[in-house]
Amino acid sequence: MTRRKIIVTGGTGLVGRALVAALSPTYDIRVLSRSAKTPHSIRWDPARGEVDLRELEGAFAVVHLAGENIAALRWTKSKKNRILRSRVDGTRFLVDTLAKLSAKPEVLIASSANGYYGSQRAEMLAETSPPGTGFLSDVCVAWEREAARARDLGVRVVHLRTGLVLSRDGGALPPMLLPFRLGLGGRIGSGKQFVSWIHMADLVRSIQFLLEAPIDGAINAVAPEPVTNNELTRTLATILRRPALLPVPSFALRFALGEMGTTLLLASIRAVPERLLSEGFQFHYPTLEHALRGLLSRGTR
Ligand SMILES: NC(=O)c1ccc[n+]([C@@H]2O[C@H](COP(=O)([O-])OP(=O)(O)OC[C@H]3O[C@@H](n4cnc5c(N)ncnc54)[C@H](OP(=O)(O)O)[C@@H]3O)[C@@H](O)[C@H]2O)c1
Repeated sequence: MTRRKIIVTGGTGLVGRALVAALSPTYDIRVLSRSAKTPHSIRWDPARGEVDLRELEGAFAVVHLAGENIAALRWTKSKKNRILRSRVDGTRFLVDTLAKLSAKPEVLIASSANGYYGSQRAEMLAETSPPGTGFLSDVCVAWEREAARARDLGVRVVHLRTGLVLSRDGGALPPMLLPFRLGLGGRIGSGKQFVSWIHMADLVRSIQFLLEAPIDGAINAVAPEPVTNNELTRTLATILRRPALLPVPSFALRFALGEMGTTLLLASIRAVPERLLSEGFQFHYPTLEHALRGLLSRGTR
């Protein structure tokens, strides 16, 4: 039987690499990349509007993960502009490209983020919750709006509101570990802010699930048990068997990291995966302790 073709944008990134590795045995995966030169990659340059249409023909699905990395020492004006434009203009270009194909894909799984909800203290945020305010929230709303245009082409569209992805291979976890390993870990700010997280393996499995299940609309790609920063700190300290006595005050974070620090580290987002659970998706790592023990024990991912 011929394997169905899936296009993955951002397939060279943290999530993309794990997804491509997991999907490759089952599907014919093509990575749409500005730079990759592997036999299965297709060159595109969304900022210049360049892509070879023929390479996209016949795809059953598109998973759209591409976008300027949001982690940076400071969000300068030009960094913020790249974060926004790479997502909004990049997604617009992708959907305009899909419109030109003779056969449209069945499904577009388009990345978004739980930053959609803004900072909301301890309120539980399901997919029906309204967007918040602030830069990341505005980016997510505009990003989802562009992806939603694919519905006019008859494509099923999933907006993947991803939480903080926990992986040993990059992203937020490795830099978090270093201060703890040195015995310099501690809560950030009041420690009461909620963090919605997901183990990389569950994120990849949820994308696999959404490729085949007839689900349309927003999906919170987060574990069922978001934690406060205090709980995150305690769990990390327990697993690493190190003290966590040195809190990082909010004012220091604001001073050192500006808007990026307040948005990513002090914001409180308590998102829950209401739709994934009601559709029968089963998490392998529902609790933070289980996820971190899995990631930090030798020989497992
Ligand atoms: N990691 C997380 O914790 C997390 C949390 C919430 C949401 N998300 C979202 O999930 C998606 C994937 O995350 P990730 O951590 O895998 O991201 P990543 O490692 O930063 O990779 C993103 C990919 O996007 C492409 N890219 C980078 N800058 C670009 C630009 N200016 N214009 C167009 N393409 C660009 C790159 O691919 P090429 O160089 O090959 O073109 C890169 O490999 C992102 O959209 C991210 O916002 C991630």
